[in-house]
Amino acid sequence: MFKITILYGAIREGRLSIRAAKALQNALQQSGKATVTFIDIKDYNLPVMEARLKDMENPPVGLLEISNALESADGIVFVTPEYNNSYSGAMKNCIDYFTKEWAKKPIGICCGSNGKMGGVNASNLLQLLVLAIGAYPMPYKLLVPELHLSLDENGVPQNEIMQKNLDRFVSEYLWFVEAIVNQRKKG
Ligand SMILES: Cc1cc2nc3c(=O)[nH]c(=O)nc-3n(C[C@H](O)[C@H](O)[C@H](O)COP(=O)(O)O)c2cc1C
Repeated sequence: MFKITILYGAIREGRLSIRAAKALQNALQQSGKATVTFIDIKDYNLPVMEARLKDMENPPVGLLEISNALESADGIVFVTPEYNNSYSGAMKNCIDYFTKEWAKKPIGICCGSNGKMGGVNASNLLQLLVLAIGAYPMPYKLLVPELHLSLDENGVPQNEIMQKNLDRFVSEYLWFVEAIVNQRKKG
């Protein structure tokens, strides 16, 4: 079993992209190959980052909890809505707190929007961010257009294409995680 942490980065009242995070959580668990830790940034009320976790003398418990969930994971999935052609500010703020937690981690990217483009702009920028933190972005991304139509409130796909893309993402992601886990074992 792979330990996967989903980092979900929208804190907006009425956020729809939680549907995408739930869809991934369900699909990864149903694969039978993963245990999933779900980190919802909204639960942590993180202030705007003034110091990285590694430089804090008395870090808040919540940050240590997120750090542990990231560091102990075999793989991480970032889920974010697209805001103004990019990922959410809350997501970036959270990511900036951490350093060694990201080292050589396989990171899957899922973005969503209520329009037809499924957060493609955010996803491209997020791949660059993953490179900047010293982790590996998976080439195939899960894009969710028309969040309100593609997934129901529990994250259940509402059309064939959504289901197909979700299945492909999970299958490619587990392959990607396995490849990097095996390499990391070699040191
Ligand atoms: C501040 C803000 C900026 C947005 N910018 C974009 C955008 O650039 N492209 C897009 O497709 N949707 C954009 N949207 C719409 C979101 O895609 C929509 O809110 C969607 O439901 C996902 O965000 P949510 O999880 O907050 O609901 C924006 C929404 C907000 C609140």
